[in-house]
Amino acid sequence: MNIVLFGAPGAGKGTQSTLLVERLGMVQISTGDLFRAAIKNKTELGQKAQSFMDKGELVPDSIVIGMVDEVLAKLENKSFILDGFPRTSAQAEALGKILSQRALEIGKAVFLEVPREELLGRLTGRRVCKSCGAVYHVQSKPTKVAGVCDVCGGEVIQRNDDKEDVIATRLKTYEENTLPLRTYFKELNKYVEVNGAQDTETVFSNIKRVIS
Ligand code: AP5
Ligand code: MG
Ligand code: ZN
Repeated sequence: MNIVLFGAPGAGKGTQSTLLVERLGMVQISTGDLFRAAIKNKTELGQKAQSFMDKGELVPDSIVIGMVDEVLAKLENKSFILDGFPRTSAQAEALGKILSQRALEIGKAVFLEVPREELLGRLTGRRVCKSCGAVYHVQSKPTKVAGVCDVCGGEVIQRNDDKEDVIATRLKTYEENTLPLRTYFKELNKYVEVNGAQDTETVFSNIKRVIS
């Protein structure tokens, strides 16, 4: 089943996607990760996206939609997870069109519900590997050796947009643009909610249950 995984910044979309990829063989399509890779590789796409991301604002719809369309075009016959897309109603509408053109379908839109105080702690404490993108947390998931990735030995850093002032903008952007998509997916009868404020394994088993 193909799914949309949505929820606030720090809700655990990336963490859960990693488990879905490892354990169920799904493919993760994270628009945030794709933009960060583009920035790292100094591509034109990265250049366009960076200023919006650094401020915690959304990258314009036309750029994001074009990028997702390209990724879906190359997709082989594997179930995919849309992590962080769609985030606006224009993106949701565009996704509907792209999917029907490619004879693809979303089975469920899984909403990870996490209270705001928990989100702040997760985002300020998050650390990521500069090389492989593995996600850590200074308290709940520290690396074995400080500053060094357990998976690849790369340097572990704080994301540019995990600074407190940018986090505030990201949360506001999310509440205004993305939270209303709950109604959109409810109307399509695809909406399911999972309590994301539990330990990672419990959240994973609940996601697995609602998508199987
Ligand atoms: P993106 O990279 O998608 O960021 P986000 O939506 O803000 O979400 P995050 O990646 O911050 O959180 P997450 O839910 O993945 O949480 P994670 O698993 O890492 O987007 C970045 C930017 O790109 C946007 O601001 C925008 O500019 C642009 N962009 C991207 N998509 C776009 C789109 N469609 N349209 C326009 N612009 C777009 O977990 C967070 C932390 O919590 C980690 O430290 C983790 O270890 C910890 N944690 C996770 N789960 C648990 C748990 N169960 N218990 C305890 N700790 C946990
Ligand atoms: Mg993420
Ligand atoms: Zn790494």
